[in-house]
Amino acid sequence: MPLVREIDYGTPASKAEATVALTIDGQAVTVPAGTSVMRAAQEMGTTIPRLCATDMMDAFGSCRLCLVEIEGRAGAPASCTTPVAEGMVVHTQTPKLAKLRKGVMELYISDHPLDCLTCAANGDCELQDMAGAVGLREVRYGYQGENHLDEAKDESNPYFTYDPSKCIVCSRCVRACDEVQGTFALTIAGRGFASRVSASQSEPFLDSECVSCGACVQACPTATLTEKSVIEIGTPEHSVITTCAYCGVGCAFKAEMRGEELVRMVPYKDGAANHGHSCVKGRFAWGYAAHKERILNPMIRASTAEPWREVSWEEAIAHTAAEFKRIQAKYGRQAVGGVTSSRCTNEETFLVQKLIRAGFGNNNVDTCARVCHSPTGYGLKTTFGTSAGTQDFDTVEHVDVAVIIGANPTDAHPVFASRLKQQLRPREEGGGGARLIVIDPRRTELVRTPHVHADHHLALRPGTNVAVLTAMAHVIVTEGLADEAFVRERCDWDEYRDWAAFVAEPRHSPEATEPLTGVPADELRAAARLYATGGNAAIYYGLGVTEHSQGSTAVIAIANLAMATGNIGKPGVGVNPLRGQNNVQGSCDMGSFPHELSGYRHVADDTARTMFEELWGVDIDPEPGMRINNMLDAAVEGAFKGMYIQGEDIMQSDPNTSHVAAGLEAMECVVVQDLFLSETAAYAHVFLPGSTFLEKNGTFTNAERRIQLVRKAMAPKNGYEDWEVTQLLSNALGYPMAYGHPAEIMDEIARLTPTFAGVSFDLLEKVGSVQWPCNQVQPTGTPVMHMAGFVRGRGKFVVTEYIPTDEKTGPRFPLLLTTGRILSQYNVGAQTRRTANVVWHDEDVLEIHPHDAEVRGVRDGDWVKLQSRAGATTLRAQITDRVSPGVVYTTFHHPATQANVVTTDYSDWATNCPEYKVTAVQVAVSNGPSEWQERYGDFVTRSRRIAEEPKVLEPKILEPGE
Ligand code: SF4
Ligand code: SF4
Ligand code: SF4
Ligand code: FES
Repeated sequence: MPLVREIDYGTPASKAEATVALTIDGQAVTVPAGTSVMRAAQEMGTTIPRLCATDMMDAFGSCRLCLVEIEGRAGAPASCTTPVAEGMVVHTQTPKLAKLRKGVMELYISDHPLDCLTCAANGDCELQDMAGAVGLREVRYGYQGENHLDEAKDESNPYFTYDPSKCIVCSRCVRACDEVQGTFALTIAGRGFASRVSASQSEPFLDSECVSCGACVQACPTATLTEKSVIEIGTPEHSVITTCAYCGVGCAFKAEMRGEELVRMVPYKDGAANHGHSCVKGRFAWGYAAHKERILNPMIRASTAEPWREVSWEEAIAHTAAEFKRIQAKYGRQAVGGVTSSRCTNEETFLVQKLIRAGFGNNNVDTCARVCHSPTGYGLKTTFGTSAGTQDFDTVEHVDVAVIIGANPTDAHPVFASRLKQQLRPREEGGGGARLIVIDPRRTELVRTPHVHADHHLALRPGTNVAVLTAMAHVIVTEGLADEAFVRERCDWDEYRDWAAFVAEPRHSPEATEPLTGVPADELRAAARLYATGGNAAIYYGLGVTEHSQGSTAVIAIANLAMATGNIGKPGVGVNPLRGQNNVQGSCDMGSFPHELSGYRHVADDTARTMFEELWGVDIDPEPGMRINNMLDAAVEGAFKGMYIQGEDIMQSDPNTSHVAAGLEAMECVVVQDLFLSETAAYAHVFLPGSTFLEKNGTFTNAERRIQLVRKAMAPKNGYEDWEVTQLLSNALGYPMAYGHPAEIMDEIARLTPTFAGVSFDLLEKVGSVQWPCNQVQPTGTPVMHMAGFVRGRGKFVVTEYIPTDEKTGPRFPLLLTTGRILSQYNVGAQTRRTANVVWHDEDVLEIHPHDAEVRGVRDGDWVKLQSRAGATTLRAQITDRVSPGVVYTTFHHPATQANVVTTDYSDWATNCPEYKVTAVQVAVSNGPSEWQERYGDFVTRSRRIAEEPKVLEPKILEPGE
């Protein structure tokens, strides 16, 4: 489609319900009260010239270009800062206004380099547009006087440049950083002529507090802040609306292109999850798609000791099908299985599980949600009846108290974090004035960030979530703060009474649990009171809740709290899992678990299974299949021999790496479909090149259950979209598939899945996005769930007995390791490590408290050995009091560290979600890589060879657009 340019209304929409009627240029117009004159004019199609105004932030009134005349008022007020009034008569274009505007523009242009023809923003510059709009044809003032034309550029940020010679000091960048992003990294330093944009304390952007979200670049009306890709490639000429392939926020973007080359990703203002905002990953970290290490040809080999051999797609598919058939003939139907990808589309995921259930004839399918949010599915289904979050992101505007537990949204869900910060800022600063409770062992950024601070930070010991949540319930019940009317109306009263009696036991009081949790009793009591009595209270949680041996219990405990206080079933409340990967909600919805068909129906459910059997023409095993860990265990024992892994890197993402390696090594045919030779691919026998999100059509479902289109911006460099490869494999296995487009796969999903019954590509094209359930009852989706009643009928309270993990500290392993993510890298880092994001994080480091460092003789930057009962790795130490004494923390983005060598086999009792967040460890100064790191390094170097290539793989270098 041609380049999409959203209308800029100049100022944000007013939320008032009352309306005001006025006349602009002789036309009657009615708008909500509080609307600016500028916006009212734009609503009727008249663009008033402007430079400092944009509808992403509040009016500022500095440029004086948007002047209008209002009958009965003296002078020429700025239309951006003047609200409409009943009966107002406005003129936007008069000779007097034209003269004033020309004068203003002349001053701007007299200090602006007139290099429009060679400027990167030529044709995409508001200053240029406004000069034309006001009819400026000559400038009377020359460059003889003082000017800024020779000021040095700041090129420090890898993705955008700051050229102060072009700055008109409109403050749009500063306000974007404050109001949209919430980082407050920019100011206007100096006064009058000397004023200029300053990052932090006049530092280069890279060294400042800037988190490279790009909001200022987007807001800048000139070429002062410009994407380097635009400077290098040129301005884009068409765009494709699509969805970010990184995290579960699900930001919509315009992929702006020149031919088949991507020029930039610009957040889409009509995106329902992001409303025009983005983070550094979605906005800038897309270079991996054309990285030289991307593999474009299929490859096979008989064993991992051999180098890879490039083959045709025909040979690769025929070989893979023959191998799976051979294995099943020799070892039985259950000897093979597969893993679907939460990075791939719903349609691709649905097809992989279909291939396994119908083509392999078993239920041995699992997905990465096993290792992240499977407890969410279990816990919320048990209590509410649906395995998903209850709200949409927009609901945050109604939140009075936010509880963030086991989540670090500023790093892992940045665009949601920006919206949350807006709501948390004081009312007098234009924020929503909401209060904040953070429950996390680390002092995450939200605990104290510019203009936002947590009212309570409960820095609990890792592994004690259930004890803390139950203690909060104790306070609520024993102090009479429960909403019993809500509970009587909506929940099972007898179960509530059992639960209330349980939590009220003295052993659950904050005082009794303080020695265990490390949370001061009075702080916990205050937090519980605030949650129960502070108005609309919403809980947002992440993997710090689920990745524990009691992950499912903690999710249930959260649901109990929400029901007990009536914080469910309306805007501004609820239980909101912040899902990790872009399509982890979708991969679960699509039937990726061994016990569930799409829509979370158990394979033993005869009615559901029969629907699939009839449409697919096969018998489906009514017994659940194996989970990932079961498959690996069975492989080690010799009973499981072949695995089809689409887009997951279980070697890096799953716990106890040596055990994963042993399982993969024991198999006869490991098939990896991916973009790069991942860590898992080092153990593979077949490599099927994958396609990026820019190269395919389909849908992703974000953390709000929002289904959004992913649109193809360029042809797949490897030749096929991922769903086409699965289809080829299924056909070669003898189970025919003949889809012509992912829309047909979605039609099948809708036929088989009641919560998706109304979803189609046509509907998504028409309305932009929908949140499931989307069916006859809710034809355009369901933003907030459980409004009239719980999906399961009555809400179910479940007793949450705290059972400490078996992973214990002791003299050998006295510290607790917990793991997480940082903003610039994503998950196993396969994509972000292959972008300029490495300038922010090029290695995983171990955060350690100064006290723990001192007693071990560890200095900042030292190499340290991190040892657990499962294994050891080495990495650099970073001394910080962000972690409490006794707790250490690291990320798992870099394979050189392989942080999961250290994590253990302990897992959630209900779902086997691994206990990544609690590992007993010891830390000591190290003088070299661990034994595992040395062995593994040698192995992957050998394993990545490609025949004809003497050493490590140096794959074909892709030219842009090739
Ligand atoms: S950098 Fe751009 S947005 Fe910021 S003050 Fe200068 S011209 Fe305005
Ligand atoms: S890129 Fe984002 S964080 Fe950085 S200065 Fe601009 S708006 Fe602020
Ligand atoms: S917040 Fe998530 S979805 Fe949005 S741009 Fe960043 S990574 Fe992409
Ligand atoms: S746009 Fe109104 S004063 Fe700048």
